[in-house]
Amino acid sequence: MPAPDPDHPHVLVFDHPLIQHKLTWLREKSTSSRAFRALMYQIAGLMVFEVTRRFPTEPVEIETPLEGTTGTRLRGTITVVPVLRAGLGMAEGVMEVMPEARVGHLGLARDERTLLPKAYLNKLPRDLDAGPVILVDPMLATGGSAVAAMAMLREAGATDLRLMCLVAAPEGIARIRAVEPELPIYTAAIDRKLNERGFIVPGLGDAGDRLYGTV
Ligand code: PRP
Repeated sequence: MPAPDPDHPHVLVFDHPLIQHKLTWLREKSTSSRAFRALMYQIAGLMVFEVTRRFPTEPVEIETPLEGTTGTRLRGTITVVPVLRAGLGMAEGVMEVMPEARVGHLGLARDERTLLPKAYLNKLPRDLDAGPVILVDPMLATGGSAVAAMAMLREAGATDLRLMCLVAAPEGIARIRAVEPELPIYTAAIDRKLNERGFIVPGLGDAGDRLYGTV
């Protein structure tokens, strides 16, 4: 189980050694784009195990080669929503372990001067209330993008929502708390703070640029 952070209830921090090991290589500046993509994919896949822990299930009758038995299957339609671009790197890993989920896309770019997010794509399924929704974005910095994305998801009908990220700044967590006090946030780390340019420190740099080699 990830540890709930005492200062941030509803924030679950993955203190698992394997995730911390991979996160450390993700942070390292000499890590190549190719390795960065692989690490993000792997960490996201590992996190799914806990993120889905309380997902609704229902019994299902099946036949094994020997006899009939009652099994368990996930109930409802799960939707994974990456915030472009960087969220795509995590969504790939989530889909590897949960291929039955569907994917909605939100495109948000943060203005480097004002730090405000600008929406350029909103491609979501209509019936977002058909099951759990996982918003994925590796970076929670000022929280502007996450709050805008959550508003778009609520507007589209999402009722059962959580955020999955890799590195969160205390400022971003507080921003979410102000509008969605109960929303579960899953993260591999809570970093120290934002710097004067709105980057998380120590952080891992610009996740989108590092993923796609556009630095
Ligand atoms: C980054 C990151 C988040 C956002 C976090 O994306 O992936 O979406 O910034 O910042 P915030 O919490 O202050 O809003 P960016 O806008 O750089 O776009 P990109 O993923 O396309 O590079």
